[in-house]
Amino acid sequence: MRILVTGGCGFIGSNFIRFFLSRYPDHSIINLDKLTYAGNPQNLRDLSGNSRYRFVKGDIADPDTLEALSPERIDGIIHFAAESHVDRSIDDAEAFIHTNVLGTYQLLSFARRHHVPRFLHVSTDEVYGELGDQGAFTEDSPIRPNSPYAASKASSDLMVRSFFRTYRLPVLITRCSNNYGPYQFPEKLIPLMITNAMRDKPLPVYGNGLNVRDWIYVTDHCEAVARIFFEGKEGEVYNIGGDGERTNLEVVQVILDYMEKPRSLITFVKDRPGHDYRYAMDYSKLKESLGWEPTVSFDEGIKLTVDWYRSHRPWWEAILNGTYQEP
Ligand SMILES: NC(=O)c1ccc[n+]([C@@H]2O[C@H](COP(=O)([O-])OP(=O)(O)OC[C@H]3O[C@@H](n4cnc5c(N)ncnc54)[C@H](O)[C@@H]3O)[C@@H](O)[C@H]2O)c1
Repeated sequence: MRILVTGGCGFIGSNFIRFFLSRYPDHSIINLDKLTYAGNPQNLRDLSGNSRYRFVKGDIADPDTLEALSPERIDGIIHFAAESHVDRSIDDAEAFIHTNVLGTYQLLSFARRHHVPRFLHVSTDEVYGELGDQGAFTEDSPIRPNSPYAASKASSDLMVRSFFRTYRLPVLITRCSNNYGPYQFPEKLIPLMITNAMRDKPLPVYGNGLNVRDWIYVTDHCEAVARIFFEGKEGEVYNIGGDGERTNLEVVQVILDYMEKPRSLITFVKDRPGHDYRYAMDYSKLKESLGWEPTVSFDEGIKLTVDWYRSHRPWWEAILNGTYQEP
């Protein structure tokens, strides 16, 4: 099979491509990525020269770019490309609407024109909005996004759904909780805290630090996406969760303790506007129908992640000094 992966130079996409090529030796991947600030060619440097991997620089929202991909030879699409940082969407949501909404629409239209037999759309728990202290989102929970990022992802999910109902495009939607692990851009909570702690800089925590997220180690997410891509039922939504509910404050404390750094580095800063209180995922549908469950505990995953950032200092320093996209 020849799979088109979008956004493969980002955090989850690059982990997914590396995982997928080693797990499925008969398949090949075309990675279409615009290389926005979040796209880092270094993430897949080890694949250069691999005959089963091809990188194409381009925008998913541009139909000409898509048509140039030899579409008759694409057996499936796994769609990761997105603007993904909530804080940036609060400052300016235009790029989010371009890529997450218009880009997804163009990709769906491309898949429809060329009868691509499988289309997996990677989405997020944030489309469901927030929870109180109890309960968890199921696939039937109402879509109530609260940030411009979440609203743009919810829009793309609804467009994907409509292509199934209207055109019978064979789609799947996955909604996953917060990922962490190697190659995550250091603007996101966990790598920001690790890289600041490594330099003895303050660790900024929003509000009172009591907002709760469910955390999943990135390779568990990749495994779930592959399983759903091959075995999921067309037209269905699958929640993916990590059994890793923690407050932001707990996350930061675990990191500091493992790194043997003082908790006095924690600094509380003005809360994010519209900050969702809690997310939690009920992934029993995926577990019962496809037998998937997460394998990496939060405590284990944090150690793996801290160790990776410690041993890949040049990778994240190049991002901080702005040289990471230079050839
Ligand atoms: N990070 C998480 O915790 C998380 C959780 C659940 C779901 N998701 C979803 O998973 C996907 C990947 O997230 P991530 O954290 O790896 O994101 P990321 O920001 O690290 O990477 C996004 C990638 O998409 C590329 N891209 C952006 N706009 C593009 C365009 N118009 N055309 C082609 N490529 C473009 C970027 O260059 C980058 O390589 C997103 O759809 C996101 O909504 C992320």
